[in-house]
Amino acid sequence: MKYGINTMDDIDYEGKTVLCRVDLNSPLKQPQGELADDTRIRRSLPTIRELSETGAKTVLLTHQGGDLEYKNYRSTEPHSRIFSELLQKPVTYIDDICGPAARDSISSLRDGDILLLDNVRFLAEELTLFETKLNLNFEDQAKTLLVRVLAPLADYFVCDAFAAAHRSQPSLAGFPLVLPSQMGRLFEEEYSILSGILQEPKRPCTYVFGGAKIQDAFLILPAVLQSGAADLVLTCGLVGHIMLMAKDIRLGAASESFIYKNSLGEYIQTAKELLCEYGAKILLPQDIAWEQDGVRMEGELKAAPQDKLIGDIGSQTIAVYEKIIEDSGTIFINGPAGVFEQAATELGTKSLWQAIAKSGAFSILGGGDSITAVNKFGLYECFSYVSSAGGSLVRFLSGEELPVIKALRLSAEKYGQGR
Ligand code: 3PG
Repeated sequence: MKYGINTMDDIDYEGKTVLCRVDLNSPLKQPQGELADDTRIRRSLPTIRELSETGAKTVLLTHQGGDLEYKNYRSTEPHSRIFSELLQKPVTYIDDICGPAARDSISSLRDGDILLLDNVRFLAEELTLFETKLNLNFEDQAKTLLVRVLAPLADYFVCDAFAAAHRSQPSLAGFPLVLPSQMGRLFEEEYSILSGILQEPKRPCTYVFGGAKIQDAFLILPAVLQSGAADLVLTCGLVGHIMLMAKDIRLGAASESFIYKNSLGEYIQTAKELLCEYGAKILLPQDIAWEQDGVRMEGELKAAPQDKLIGDIGSQTIAVYEKIIEDSGTIFINGPAGVFEQAATELGTKSLWQAIAKSGAFSILGGGDSITAVNKFGLYECFSYVSSAGGSLVRFLSGEELPVIKALRLSAEKYGQGR
């Protein structure tokens, strides 16, 4: 038992059926839908390997695709192929989650077998909108179809999805109430390392907020500023664009309409309030870059193109941010600085990542796209810690008790240590 939660050391899994929630949600290559990065699959291997080697019948559950962008949900079939290659043993995929086909497959598992169910977010019960609008508590989640149907087939629930520990959804927070539950090896590692950082961070703490996950960023920003976890916040990516719009800076027709078309306009008001209260701690891009016919173009904010999306921070901003990074004690990165996938707009992300790698600061990087970028620039080993998590990592660092951690603790209270 660690932090009031059972670990895999507390259980003998031989011959037992284990529902194991992992987070294999990975960036995808467009338009084929193949995985662009397999880091999250690799990070899940120790838990899966251990379960299989100790003779468990392992049933893997994961989501694929952002919870607020249901249009990008995809099957988990490609994940099973990569898993099988890495583990060098079959990880069987079934295109069902809790219907008769899935239940039959679970019942036919032999000791050591591994089965991957389809994307749990194909179920309406797993959507965050559902979760936030209806405010399902853990008891309600335990009554959902997924939990009612799958829990009776299993002996244990292992949660290794630290990256989704901020989501109060049935596949994560419903099972611990009805099955003796443990955290998996990755969950345990993340929890232990991040708790250490939380207790004694080297100051000043700089948070870099970039990328496109606006909803998460604006949920978390107030928390890290209010709790004092962040001494300084460097904004870039879409987060930076929203901040600039909150200052009434025009970004050009293409970038502005992108924000409104994706229903992100509402965050401009939140950004205004944040700037009003914590303005001295929040830095904004001073210049910008974009791609034109494959070439990098740079300019001042007022030179924002009308027909092109802003794709990166400019050189002046890079220089200011690099200096702050150099003087930081701890640096936390959530989201890339720009569209690093194309050469013309990769400079911001690459330069900041390199500055962090060179600095003496304790550096933590999280988020699916950030990890893809770090792999692209060959800097994975240069960071003090690369977390498999994005949103849940920042929420954890803001001191919030994450719903899944709470659910696992309740499970330990209910079922005691081991079994
Ligand atoms: C992530 O990518 O941060 C996790 O997989 C959680 O995904 P979500 O933010 O779509 O819930």
